[in-house]
Amino acid sequence: MHDYEKARTDSVADPDSFWLEASTEIDWIAAPTIGWDAESDSWFADGQLNSCYNAVDRHVDSGRADQPAIIYESPVTGQRQKFSYRELQTEVAKTAGMIAAHGVQKGDRVIIYMPMIPQTMFAMLACARIGAIHSVVFGGFAPPELAKRIDDAEPKLLLTASCGIEGKKIIPYQPLVSESLALAAHRVPAVLLFQRETLRADIADGWAQDWSEQLAKASPADCVPVMSSDPLYILYTSGTTGTPKGVVRDNGGHAVALNWSMRHVYGLMPGECFWAASDVGWVVGHSYIVYAPLFAGATVILYEGKPVGTPDAGEFWRIIERNQVSVFFTAPTAIRAIRKEDENGELYPASDLPSLRAIFLAGERADPDTIKWLENRLDRPVIDHWWQTELGWPALATCLGLGDTRRKAGSAGFPVPGYRVDVLDEEGEVVAQGKVGNISIKCPLPPGCYQSLWGNRDGYQKAFASYPGYYETGDAGFCDADGFMHVMGRTDDIINVAGHRLSTGQMEGALAEVDGVSECAVIGADDQLKGMIPVAFVVASAMQDETELAAACIAHIRSEIGAVASLRTIHVVAALPKTRSGKILRSSLRTIANGKKLRIPSTIENPDSIEAIVSKLAKASC
Ligand code: COA
Ligand code: AMP
Repeated sequence: MHDYEKARTDSVADPDSFWLEASTEIDWIAAPTIGWDAESDSWFADGQLNSCYNAVDRHVDSGRADQPAIIYESPVTGQRQKFSYRELQTEVAKTAGMIAAHGVQKGDRVIIYMPMIPQTMFAMLACARIGAIHSVVFGGFAPPELAKRIDDAEPKLLLTASCGIEGKKIIPYQPLVSESLALAAHRVPAVLLFQRETLRADIADGWAQDWSEQLAKASPADCVPVMSSDPLYILYTSGTTGTPKGVVRDNGGHAVALNWSMRHVYGLMPGECFWAASDVGWVVGHSYIVYAPLFAGATVILYEGKPVGTPDAGEFWRIIERNQVSVFFTAPTAIRAIRKEDENGELYPASDLPSLRAIFLAGERADPDTIKWLENRLDRPVIDHWWQTELGWPALATCLGLGDTRRKAGSAGFPVPGYRVDVLDEEGEVVAQGKVGNISIKCPLPPGCYQSLWGNRDGYQKAFASYPGYYETGDAGFCDADGFMHVMGRTDDIINVAGHRLSTGQMEGALAEVDGVSECAVIGADDQLKGMIPVAFVVASAMQDETELAAACIAHIRSEIGAVASLRTIHVVAALPKTRSGKILRSSLRTIANGKKLRIPSTIENPDSIEAIVSKLAKASC
């Protein structure tokens, strides 16, 4: 407790000194003398470093060469591989040479559309090594989404693989990538494809070059110096429009904050094993599968599998046991999936996982029931913590590494040192304890948070426009009488489905393109497994078969956004409820979809529409 309070007080009283001290824990080519620089809107403006050096080479140089850096676990393919820091250095340097041989230089963009295999991590680190900016695109997105990212990032190179393994399914990447390249206006000069034995791709016509052949020809490349504020990566995430937001992360602030977080938030020491069961396509994967554990000299697990079905709900525990994982991070939905299959813990190992100290949950609110079930099973702290792609690392947590152990199921903990979190009302005033408002963070944001949106400075500044001096997170919540923060949900049209961030506005945009749809509304309904699922209400433009229209809507969302959107429920209705000014009453639709009793809003223009929807849904559920 004492350490947490001291760190929090120090970080607020003198952020520059606090973070400059933290910056000494990483290796610089030119150490920074400046903390926050308002003029350049960046941290450590005069510092020079290389992120790959900090994640890989420095551990080889300082005695960790033979320690495992990455342990790859792929239950479906039966592969299990270990890479020591020395082996990782060799692989990454060669991959960097291969990328550089395609004319990629400092500041150039490289799109990485790859599955959860070691080569993906090598590629990310290799880009960092030569100062190129990587943009990893999640494998569950459909070609139009990949094409949007290609057009926005304008990459010099696209890296891919022959297939992904998604649960028990094999997903061939060739059709997806070829279609994306055809859809994009930007012409990508070269594509390199890693052939997996599970399913090889046909590249005989030269649309892609063979990764292994290119790698064999490449000479290892060295780390190049970059400025602290030079971009390390762009990660696209759902915004409130159909256009994804390209979150830009710097090198210096990112390395300092992530390295600091490993020890002080998660309580992980160098040499220990950390596992974040996420995907490298999301921010959790960037921060806690790739960069933070490696910055900190830990061993990291790269898991190509699901919580259940690969092969069963005991796989997480077996991996923790086999690899002596000290700290484990996953999404609540994964725990709910395990619980559904193994409520009584029959697949939980007799060893009781002696290495495991704590489990951290994020990606969506952790419901108290899930936390209690897990704590009963494991008798170890289960910590809900909160952050988002824009922030890059936890903003609310119980900082185990600072000796804090306070927890309350339903709360995401306390502001992490460096974050000055306030709950504001619509006028920007701090609300009273217990009152729900907009969770906002005082500027400047700590190191590691986003620096900009790629090619969209105005979009970035919008997040700072509602409340002067604050970043608006888009989440609502409150602080209770004991100082615990509670995150209640989004204030915009973003929903979190199985820990995946999606935009209902984007889905509405796509549904409007379907032949026969005249109007639509998509809302997030509660779901016992995924936390939330999208549900669409669609008005047909003419008399037509409702089942066919619903099927067309589902197929269109899959082909435009991707399977990950998980839209499976479409209600074809006569009219959408609207206010007199024409706004769709989405909150009423959400109440109906959740099966709750609705009080008809006084502002409604067409109360009949609600009655018709309620009776239609009631009939459907009979
Ligand atoms: N590549 C291709 N397709 C993908 C994909 C990927 N990387 N990830 C998901 N998909 C597909 C799935 O196969 C599924 O397709 P389907 O509709 O054809 O079956 C669809 O997208 C929805 O996937 P998902 O939401 O993951 O649902 P699921 O039923 O397959 O699995 C869970 C449910 C709970 C097991 C799974 O969502 C899960 O493990 N969640 C944890 C997520 C997580 O760790 N998030 C990171 C935040 S910390
Ligand atoms: P992403 O940018 O994909 O990480 O999604 C970030 C969003 O997920 C946040 O803005 C929240 O809405 C939600 N989220 C993440 N973690 C939590 C949590 N612990 N509790 C509640 N919501 C969360």
